[in-house]
Parts: sequence; structure tokens; C-alpha cells
Amino acid sequence: MTTKVAVIVGSLRKDSVNRIFTEALARLARPKLEFHFVEIGDLPLYNQDLEADLPAPVQRFKREIEAADAVLLVTPEFNRSFSAALKNAIEWGARPWGKNSWAGKPAAIIGASLGAVGTAVAQSQLRSVAGAIGLHVNVHPEIYLNFREGQVVNGEIADEGLRQLMTSWVDAFANWAKRLRAPALSF
Ligand SMILES: Cc1cc2nc3c(=O)[nH]c(=O)nc-3n(C[C@H](O)[C@H](O)[C@H](O)COP(=O)(O)O)c2cc1C
Repeated sequence: MTTKVAVIVGSLRKDSVNRIFTEALARLARPKLEFHFVEIGDLPLYNQDLEADLPAPVQRFKREIEAADAVLLVTPEFNRSFSAALKNAIEWGARPWGKNSWAGKPAAIIGASLGAVGTAVAQSQLRSVAGAIGLHVNVHPEIYLNFREGQVVNGEIADEGLRQLMTSWVDAFANWAKRLRAPALSF
């Protein structure tokens, strides 16, 4: 049985290495995981005043998260944290009060950067926020990717070592999502 995964890429730029890598990962992951990329670039800046009449992009965003069995957060590292775009999406997903779209979903966090730290600091912060909004993040191996040329070629993960690592990650995420399939909590 396939697991439908809502994928959020925290970088908005079109040549994002996080997006390039995740699109290649989507190919590797099929059919165990079916990735659905949920766009966040059109979400307004979170403002509680807007909760009375949720803007259309927010409604669309929340619907797409709620329709998924699991969530994958893909983060760049910006100034030793995850991106503001991702934090904004997290706020909208968690609100209004009592309508938390994240709650109870199995989740994974990965990230790629051009430097050796491989988004480790960003992921560590994101993991703590993910726990606070009710996502269940527990997928090993953890993926801190130092993105380099040749790892992804023609939309496929070409590096054999990385392919093997990501294949074991796909199995771990699919198993985690299956174990956790339960009615969503609400808070
Ligand atoms: C505003 C900004 C801040 C950055 N801060 C960090 C950082 O703290 N740590 C790091 O490893 N790379 C940092 N970088 C470099 C990013 O890892 C690199 O730009 C990467 O390609 C961003 O991901 P993306 O390609 O998916 O957009 C930063 C880049 C930008 C644009």
C-alpha cells in the first residue's frame, strides 16, 4: 500500500538544491511513498486577523496537508535555522485553534545545503517545532546532505552510496507511516 506524503520544500527559489534533490527522491520512493509537493510561496504572512476568513491559498494548503498520510519537511539552512517561508507555513498549518492540520501525522525531516553542516542546525530547530505542532518525527537514518554536483543527474539520484542511503530512508519512512496510521488528534 502506498503512503501519500505531503512534501514541503522550505526554499522558494526555482533552482533550489533541496527541491532538485527531493524531486529525485520522489522517483526513488515510488511506489512505497507517493510525494505530493505542497506549495508555500503563495501563503500570506501569518496574521491572526486573517483567521476569521482564511485566505484561499491557506485553505488550499491546509486541505493538501490534511489529505496526506504523512508529511515530509525539506529544509535549507538559512542563518543557522530553517527558512522563514517554512515557519510561516507551519503557523498556518497549526491554526486556527482547534484546526491543526499537522496533528498526529507521521513525519520526516531532511535537508540539503552546499556546506558541510548539511542543515544539521536547521533540522535540529525544526525537529523541536515539529514536536510542538503534533507531528511525529522519527525516521532513521537522518539525512544531512552536503549537496554536490553529480549526486543528481537527469532527475535521478546518481550517486550509488546516496541511492542506497535514501533507499533505506524510504523503507524507514514507509514503515513509520504505516505504524502510525491512526485518527488525527485535534488540539
Ligand atoms: C540567506 C541565506 C543564508 C544561508 N545560511 C546558511 C547557513 O546558515 N548554513 C549553511 O550551511 N548554508 C547557508 N546558506 C547557504 C545555503 O545552504 C545554500 O544557499 C543552499 O543552496 C540553500 O538551499 P536551496 O538551494 O534549496 O535554496 C545560506 C544561504 C542563504 C541564501
